[in-house]
Amino acid sequence: MNRRESLRKALQGGAVLFLAPAVLQSCSKDDDPNNNGTPPPAGSKITIDLSLPENASLNTAGGSKVVQSVLVANTGSAFIALSSVCTHQGCTVAYVHGASNVQCPCHGSVFTTSGSVTTGPATSALTSYPVAKSGNILTISL
Ligand code: FES
Repeated sequence: MNRRESLRKALQGGAVLFLAPAVLQSCSKDDDPNNNGTPPPAGSKITIDLSLPENASLNTAGGSKVVQSVLVANTGSAFIALSSVCTHQGCTVAYVHGASNVQCPCHGSVFTTSGSVTTGPATSALTSYPVAKSGNILTISL
């Protein structure tokens, strides 16, 4: 290997080291819009455009998704928004359309669609947020 090749390889390695933090950072939990570890700030709003493909599930009764630690679901008669973080030990809860409730997969807690506990071990309700729909836009007030 001559000097030129050595320099080229060193620069390539440097480029990898230079880019690595950016790549790693782009995969961090903080950049994940569904990150359940970062509760949304109180007083803020989440808007969801139902015309976007990534939100298409919400256009169907029973569809749901988690956005910024908020479980948003279409119950067929309304849209609901609840904290997606189980009040027992923090697992992500899910809307179960067939049972018309919200369930935690970790230890079996069950909540109503308004967030109240119906089955423990959770003892505290999920925070419920108001949802407004205007055209294709859902606005959740936190
Ligand atoms: S974390 Fe949900 S029931 Fe335990």
